[in-house]
Amino acid sequence: MHTVSQHDESIQGKPTVLPSTGMGIGKKVYIESYGCQMNFSDSEIVASILHNNGCQTTADLQEADVIFVNTCSVRENAELRVRQRFTEFKSLKKHKPHLIVGVLGCMAERLKDKFLEEEKLVDLVVGPDSYRKLPDLLMSVEDGKKGIEVLLSLEETYADISPVRLSGNGITAFISITRGCDNMCTFCVVPFTRGRERSRNPETIIEEAKDLYQQGYKEIMLLGQNINSYLWYGGGPKKEFKHLSEEEKTQSVNFASLLNRVAMISPQMRIRYTTSNPQDMTDEVLEIMASHPNICRYIHLPVQSGNTNVLQRMNRGYSREAYLNRIAAIRRYMPDCAISTDIISGFCGETEEEHADTISLMRQVGFDYAYMFKYSERPNTMAQRKFADDVLEDVKGRRLQQIIDLQNKLSLESNQRDIGKTFEVLVEGVSKKDENELYGRNSQNKVFVFPKQNLIPGDYVWVKALDCTSATIKGEIVNVEAHV
Ligand code: 5AD
Ligand code: SF4
Repeated sequence: MHTVSQHDESIQGKPTVLPSTGMGIGKKVYIESYGCQMNFSDSEIVASILHNNGCQTTADLQEADVIFVNTCSVRENAELRVRQRFTEFKSLKKHKPHLIVGVLGCMAERLKDKFLEEEKLVDLVVGPDSYRKLPDLLMSVEDGKKGIEVLLSLEETYADISPVRLSGNGITAFISITRGCDNMCTFCVVPFTRGRERSRNPETIIEEAKDLYQQGYKEIMLLGQNINSYLWYGGGPKKEFKHLSEEEKTQSVNFASLLNRVAMISPQMRIRYTTSNPQDMTDEVLEIMASHPNICRYIHLPVQSGNTNVLQRMNRGYSREAYLNRIAAIRRYMPDCAISTDIISGFCGETEEEHADTISLMRQVGFDYAYMFKYSERPNTMAQRKFADDVLEDVKGRRLQQIIDLQNKLSLESNQRDIGKTFEVLVEGVSKKDENELYGRNSQNKVFVFPKQNLIPGDYVWVKALDCTSATIKGEIVNVEAHV
């Protein structure tokens, strides 16, 4: 139930299915999404484009005329799972010869025509910057032509497309504010599959957020691969502020000022954002967060490793000390802010000492939550070209287990520190384990479970923490009142 970060493992393999909307008259399209929240958000853009062209989405695979799988390439496992799914769809096609199967997202971009030409697994291949072409490509496929479009763009942000909000809970909505990534971390395939970093026009972001608030949404999650380097100066690929012309500088909007504007839409609407890069986490952003109680006290700050030499090999652009300095800054501005991270175990050349530094950094920071992965070599990344993937599989596994065991302990301790305190919780839904209980999250992104009473999803409620595991806090309602 924890909010997922970019590329949360728990979300991979769990397709979000867009329910039928009853709109449109044409084809019935079934969409499955894997990987990061950006992909889930993109599927909503895809659904919108299709609806505007007379298609309808369906949650029923059996009645679908078209199946789209929005894919993730970040680790090999994610790709293997999707590949398996395509073989299942291929056998479905035997009974339904007119069924069209398409691959969208990062695997489409990475593998280009491989699935189409060599393996004949799919009929359509569409990369993340080409979704506007989907209706035309669908028609070409129907005419017996090839459907492939994988050009990456320097400008596309889908700014004018109003996503169809079908996959969520009606309480939280995603808004993508940047696309692509220019950081070139050596392990990461994202710069190759999602292209150059570009920021979206802030006016369209504010408009979308206002619209969501009017529709009754209570929480907005701003999304970007490298969100705090957001910089609008009129469009096009990312530039540093210092490289802008005087005119561009005057009209520029950075992440801190965008965040400020979104937070001012209503104090009733919570704002979250992900993912932040440590070197771009400025004091200005922290100051804006601290000044708006409705910007959640939660920061996802991927560290990847606690050792400066490993960080250098990863091309992360910061040292262990610089990372710890950002943690100290967060605590200075917001002592109650929860911090989560991403960690990779067994990166190329990682020694026992270097691994021990990751363990010691985890202890030093005391992360509230972490997403932890074994290093998975990705084709054509800098790491694959420059370094040997030389940490043995069982060593990677042992180190990862150590990291997971420590994080479980840290998460439990973090939750235990909250026992006896009272938090404002946004109700999200009925608990899966007990229908008389609800669940929701506090500003720190911690999941609470508490008695239902007469509350409904979307309500704010004050909950006193009574008991916990490393994943959930059990509580009692102390006072139901309006969010202030
Ligand atoms: N192997 C393992 N983990 C990776 N990540 C990105 N690329 C790889 C890879 N090749 C992890 C990083 C990143 C998160 C989204 O996924 O921790 O922050
Ligand atoms: Fe990949 Fe690094 Fe960009 Fe994150 S910041 S998407 S890890 S290149």
